[in-house]
Amino acid sequence: MKSSFVVLLSAISAAFATPLNVPRALPTPVSAATARTYLASLTVAAENNSPAYNRDFFKTWDIISGTCDTRETVLKRDGTNVVTDSSCHAISGNWVSPYDGVTTTDSSTFDIDHVVPLKDAWVSGARLWSNASREAFANDLTRPQLVAVSASSNRSKGDQDPATWVPPSSSYLCTYVRAWVQVKYYYDLTVDSAEKTALSNYLAGC
Ligand SMILES: *[C@@H]1O[C@H](CO)[C@@H](O)[C@H](O)[C@H]1NC(C)=O
Ligand SMILES: *[C@@H]1O[C@H](CO)[C@@H](O)[C@H](O)[C@H]1NC(C)=O
Repeated sequence: MKSSFVVLLSAISAAFATPLNVPRALPTPVSAATARTYLASLTVAAENNSPAYNRDFFKTWDIISGTCDTRETVLKRDGTNVVTDSSCHAISGNWVSPYDGVTTTDSSTFDIDHVVPLKDAWVSGARLWSNASREAFANDLTRPQLVAVSASSNRSKGDQDPATWVPPSSSYLCTYVRAWVQVKYYYDLTVDSAEKTALSNYLAGC
């Protein structure tokens, strides 16, 4: 009895293993319900850019394992058939940008986006952190904060928050706003009021 139950359980978990057609991307964010709870607890504050943001305040990229830095680690995670050379540079593979559906076999055309941009983090609290904390934030592979996307979508986003920019792929919208809220919550960052309204409206439809 017991062993057939165990066999049944492994068959069920195999059936629910990640299907191959799910795009590879960032760690699965919290549910919409959890994100709504998190959002309600975030402090609302106007953005504060004093002292002024400087990209140098967030060190990237760290060495994660062997010769692989954060960028290379995300490219391996988010791509399929990724082949790397001895310095962990991706020399071939296939990538799909979840923001806009753009595909590539040339990793140099993809950026590693910070879901919550470094500048947005700075003006919503990270200006008060140590350099070490900012480095951990900029290289965070545990929270849903880093994702390989087309360079064009990263550049159109810039440092905008969801009041003015969300990914053009509507199928990715809920994942994106859940990830955004989870990162803000984990790092105890503030939201401005337009950002909070936008997040709340998007999450209501998730
Ligand atoms: C933090 O990093 C910045 C930029 O590299 C540097 O100018 C500053 O001296 C660092 N601060 C500390 C306390 O190490
Ligand atoms: C992605 O866009 C941000 C904001 O414009 C920029 O700071 C960052 O350098 C871009 N990422 C890469 C890898 O170019």
